[in-house]
Amino acid sequence: MSHTPTLAIVGAGVIGISWARLAREHGWTVTITDPRPDLRDIVTAAFGDDPAVVATDDLAAAVRSADLVQENGPERLPVKQQLFAEIGAAAPADAVLATSSSSITASEIAVDLEPGVAARLLVGHPFNPPELMPLVEVLPGSRTAAETTETAVGLYRALDREPVVITTELPGFVANRLQAAISREARYLVQEGVVSPGDLDTILRNSLGLRWATIGLFEGNVLGGGPGGIAHLLAGVGAQTGGIEPGVPATDPESMRRLVEAVEDTYGSGAQVYETLARRRDRRTRAVLAALADTE
Ligand SMILES: NC(=O)c1ccc[n+]([C@@H]2O[C@H](COP(=O)([O-])OP(=O)(O)OC[C@H]3O[C@@H](n4cnc5c(N)ncnc54)[C@H](O)[C@@H]3O)[C@@H](O)[C@H]2O)c1
Repeated sequence: MSHTPTLAIVGAGVIGISWARLAREHGWTVTITDPRPDLRDIVTAAFGDDPAVVATDDLAAAVRSADLVQENGPERLPVKQQLFAEIGAAAPADAVLATSSSSITASEIAVDLEPGVAARLLVGHPFNPPELMPLVEVLPGSRTAAETTETAVGLYRALDREPVVITTELPGFVANRLQAAISREARYLVQEGVVSPGDLDTILRNSLGLRWATIGLFEGNVLGGGPGGIAHLLAGVGAQTGGIEPGVPATDPESMRRLVEAVEDTYGSGAQVYETLARRRDRRTRAVLAALADTE
């Protein structure tokens, strides 16, 4: 791209501000819009008086010069439908219109949109926090133009993200479906008293988490089988563990209350705890990313 790209952020919560940070780190111009009365305080707290970051409560003005609009408003279908009708009317005709939505699909949002707007809309689902997590799940809807998907992939790559295009709009997409499967088993093991929340996290961080930061699941299978590869693994260890029935966690209110209590006993709760844990997460994520980059 010959000009300095502009990212328009619609919805300045946890995800919106993190996208904005990523774009600024890459030298993009950023406009941020959100109806919340403390918008300017939030933007000043994150960016100081950076002249390349503009905060406004005027949605149309915020998206008018965007190359990429990234919407991060509430996860409610009517809100996103209304937002994209307004975004589509005001954004440049060649801008990519993306939603960070974790569950609502582009096809659902586009139902009543003008064809020219629907063609430019897709899901660009990040993993929290988008400024550090490279993954963006790109899900075109049934009315999205192929060219939009290509342009979106290029824009996310320009932000050093790792976009993966997923053409089936399955609830939870892919990453959160994987997370849900593991979370289900983790809650079951804690509820059954097999392991505490803290020990479960220690087990995950020191085994699968570290492994999956480097090689992924199927590559791990190939390596786990030794020179015989995945075929050897599935015939050997895989055959022994293949009969594990997944545990089903209890979801009644009392069981969920006890689970929440056990997790809060381990990590605490509230705004102060959130700040401390988020800073620690970001430090550790940066350290792993830097160490991995050193090996390339
Ligand atoms: N939190 C996560 O882990 C995560 C991860 C990936 C994707 N997402 C998705 O990102 C989106 C935002 O999530 P979040 O966690 O940042 O939520 P959040 O509650 O932190 O932020 C939402 C923001 O939207 C603003 N908003 C409300 N109405 C609006 C409107 N009409 N126009 C513009 N802004 C409006 C709110 O004032 C708030 O600042 C959701 O679609 C969510 O599914 C969240």
